[in-house]
Amino acid sequence: MMNALWALGRPLLFSLDAETAHHLTLSTLGAAPRLLGAIARPLCTAPPQPTTLFGHTLPSPIGLAAGLDKDGVAIPFWPALGFGFIEVGTVTAHAQPGNPKPRMFRLVDERAIINRMGFNNGGSAALAKRMEHLKGRGHWPSVPVGANIGKSKVTALEDAAEDYATSARRLADVADYFTVNVSSPNTPGLRSLQDADPLRRILDAVLGAANGTPTTLKLAPDLTDEAIHDAVELAHTAGVDAIIATNTTIRRDLLSTDPNQGGGMSGAPLWPFARDRIQVALAASAGRIPVIGVGGIESADQVQDLLEAGCVAVQLYSSLIFQGPGLIRRLRRDGHNAASP
Ligand SMILES: Cc1cc2nc3c(=O)[nH]c(=O)nc-3n(C[C@H](O)[C@H](O)[C@H](O)COP(=O)(O)O)c2cc1C
Repeated sequence: MMNALWALGRPLLFSLDAETAHHLTLSTLGAAPRLLGAIARPLCTAPPQPTTLFGHTLPSPIGLAAGLDKDGVAIPFWPALGFGFIEVGTVTAHAQPGNPKPRMFRLVDERAIINRMGFNNGGSAALAKRMEHLKGRGHWPSVPVGANIGKSKVTALEDAAEDYATSARRLADVADYFTVNVSSPNTPGLRSLQDADPLRRILDAVLGAANGTPTTLKLAPDLTDEAIHDAVELAHTAGVDAIIATNTTIRRDLLSTDPNQGGGMSGAPLWPFARDRIQVALAASAGRIPVIGVGGIESADQVQDLLEAGCVAVQLYSSLIFQGPGLIRRLRRDGHNAASP
């Protein structure tokens, strides 16, 4: 049924430019997230694969990666697709429009996306208000909802720690976990915040403001092995609860044709590179800090591969765009069938 709906919906969405399709989808889901969730849920039932993350028992280790629902407009909808946890954001302390359009490109043949959105979002205060409203009305999902936070463009790099901490303070009572995003390629200088001194300041500020809310650190795949080791070590010492590896890449040699668009690349061609970087993060962690794997996941085998390698959970974004709302059910069912004798 979900497949039949997707067979109708995909040609329509893919006839629009990527951001228009995204906007249309999000505004539809955001208009009635609980109703649409109630319709989708029975079509997406899937075998449970319980996992523990930040003290929560998740029905599945597969989570929604940041960036799809930046402002959290459809939070009650996503669990209906079968996700075990949801990450909204990136939000910043100041609301901001992001980069000029066009800024999101589908590479359909390669099942890849290039984006240079630049943290377009309504700000962390608006997200906090939306989340409080959901909680107050008893509409909070039964799966954890994390808030991914980044630096506002107007904030100087040297003032980044306070910008991150402002968002963390606003969201501390509502978010189930935080992700510190210092790895987007689309805010000038942001990735330099992965260096030891600024990273230490940001993590200390966020962990202080988070008031016990579990906090993860999201890393770029373009870091060297040594830089990943240093960041993981620092995160562990600071008291970070998990590493998310990886964000999008600035590499283009992974594509068979380079469309000459700046930004971060995600989707199928990212997989071999992200897989390699996740392995480095796992080695650096040496079991001391959980690793959540993300980057190019589109099959149950890849999910299983990452879990067997030691990831506590995984996230995805791009494959949902190409495969549609039945994807998570399929991944969970295929994973279950492969595990059954
Ligand atoms: C259009 C788009 C926007 C994104 N925005 C964010 C973001 O705001 N914050 C973030 O941490 N990651 C963002 N990401 C990165 C994803 O969360 C994920 O790390 C990356 O896409 C790799 O996973 P995938 O290959 O499954 O998409 C974005 C990805 C895409 C495609």
